[in-house]
Amino acid sequence: MIYEFETDRLKLRQWRSDDYPLFAAINADPIVMEYFPALLTIEESNDVAKRMKTLIAEKGWGFWVLEVQDRFAGFVGLNEPSYPLPFSPCVEVGWRLAPEFWGHGYATEAANVALKFAFETLQLAEVVSFTAVSNARSQAVMQRLKMQNTGENFEHPKVPIGHPLREHVLYRLSRSEWQNHGSHQVAI
Ligand SMILES: CC(C)(COP(=O)(O)OP(=O)(O)OC[C@H]1O[C@@H](n2cnc3c(N)ncnc32)[C@H](O)[C@@H]1OP(=O)(O)O)[C@@H](O)C(=O)NCCC(=O)NCCS
Repeated sequence: MIYEFETDRLKLRQWRSDDYPLFAAINADPIVMEYFPALLTIEESNDVAKRMKTLIAEKGWGFWVLEVQDRFAGFVGLNEPSYPLPFSPCVEVGWRLAPEFWGHGYATEAANVALKFAFETLQLAEVVSFTAVSNARSQAVMQRLKMQNTGENFEHPKVPIGHPLREHVLYRLSRSEWQNHGSHQVAI
């Protein structure tokens, strides 16, 4: 079974092959990729999209396509990092949107849907999120989700040693914190 979601403004759905060129354009945009060590080629981007699609097909959930008024806007969702991190095992909540979809609250709204699923359906005890120390826009989403900055900064193993983006912040949200703060009452 594949989980997909719809709110008044958004859809979170499985990937389709016609999403791939739009995703490649996002991954080749220096504004979107400011906090990643490199832009992605079309081939690299397609590989990432296919992997997200496969994981959703296998597990029923993952980094879903975010659709706004029937337009591909990027991805938002949940992921188990495939490489070891200091706090593994974990499930992360993450996002990447085309710039024309920034500034409308779409990432936060979609991530709240993903968190509701993580805590209510998957019954996870905790969800994490991490990003480069300098990525204030992404951290603002974490803060809007009421995630807590642990202060446990770490070196991201996929970013080259000495690279200015290697140091990452780690935010966490436990199921009890999420149940207590009330913003899980999203309409799905
Ligand atoms: C990180 C990213 C998803 C944040 O996008 P965003 O649009 O700033 O975040 P949100 O969707 O939560 O929108 C919040 C903004 O919408 C505004 N907004 C407008 N209408 C709104 C509404 N109805 N509800 C909530 N917020 C609304 C908020 O005021 C806020 O604006 P501000 O940034 O001027 O304060 C986006 O910048 C991105 O994709 N970046 C590139 C990829 C990336 O860095 N990913 C993370 C790597 S780990």
